[in-house]
Amino acid sequence: MPDIKPVRKAVFPVAGLGTRFLPATKVMPKEMLPIGDRPLIQHVYEEARDAGIEEFIFVTGRYKNMLQEHFDYQPELMKTLESRGKDEMLEKVRDSQMPEGKLFTTRQAKPLGLGHAIWCARKLIGNDPFAILLPDDLVLNGKGCLAQMMDTYNENGGNVIAVKDVPREETNKYGIVDIGKENGNVVEVKGVIEKPAPDKAPSTLSVVGRYILQPEVLDYLAAFETGAGNEIQLTDSMAKLIGDQAFHGLKFKGNHYDCGSRLGFIEANIAYGLADEEIGNDVKQIIENYGSNDSKAA
Ligand code: G1P
Repeated sequence: MPDIKPVRKAVFPVAGLGTRFLPATKVMPKEMLPIGDRPLIQHVYEEARDAGIEEFIFVTGRYKNMLQEHFDYQPELMKTLESRGKDEMLEKVRDSQMPEGKLFTTRQAKPLGLGHAIWCARKLIGNDPFAILLPDDLVLNGKGCLAQMMDTYNENGGNVIAVKDVPREETNKYGIVDIGKENGNVVEVKGVIEKPAPDKAPSTLSVVGRYILQPEVLDYLAAFETGAGNEIQLTDSMAKLIGDQAFHGLKFKGNHYDCGSRLGFIEANIAYGLADEEIGNDVKQIIENYGSNDSKAA
């Protein structure tokens, strides 16, 4: 049995500008956009917490303070809800509170790429294995995507990335893996390349924004080499680690939504709306109405 160090730290890169959602994101961080009743950042926080993460590292930037405030203790609001007997709401607010001393922040001063954002968290990551969750990517499933990856990690050690199949014409939007042996839903990753053209892609398995990585990846990131889009890519440093360390891709269970695009964001809201116990049936009815009468707007 290899010595497998538990993963207790997760990094959330949240310094991005969110230009695709302007003007909504002119002042408000894109990670505060809501899917259902909670902002994107809370969805990924909960996924990490449910997977056993205890330290939450935000790589933040200018105009992003609201993200930290969202997880604060809100005594006035809680008192008001309590006095009005709104127990369910009170519970929801309590649940959005981060345990004290568990939120750490560092800043990415310049938008030099995802790899650079992770490198900015190097002192907080230290010499421990760590997870990365990109708040743009949501996976709707009973057991969260990261929790599924933890099972793969605890069995095999090494590095684990979440992967899913995409149409070949879309390989230039994602990191794409070169795969070796397959064992059920776990694939051996032999290589990974950032945003290859469809005819250059080694497969159609794309990297979804969930990673469990060993700290050695930071040594490669420190070289500051730029890649696709002239950015410091996490994918390129992971690629250098393959061969030295085991790398697994997990074909996770659940539906994935790219909430960083307007269409993916709307689809996610529909899916989470349908899955909502309180309003799910009404959402279904609304969708049926739109489907049947061609109406563009109510
Ligand atoms: C990043 C990664 C890419 C990955 C994607 C998943 O790209 O660089 O490898 O497939 O996230 O969402 P971005 O979406 O930031 O361009």
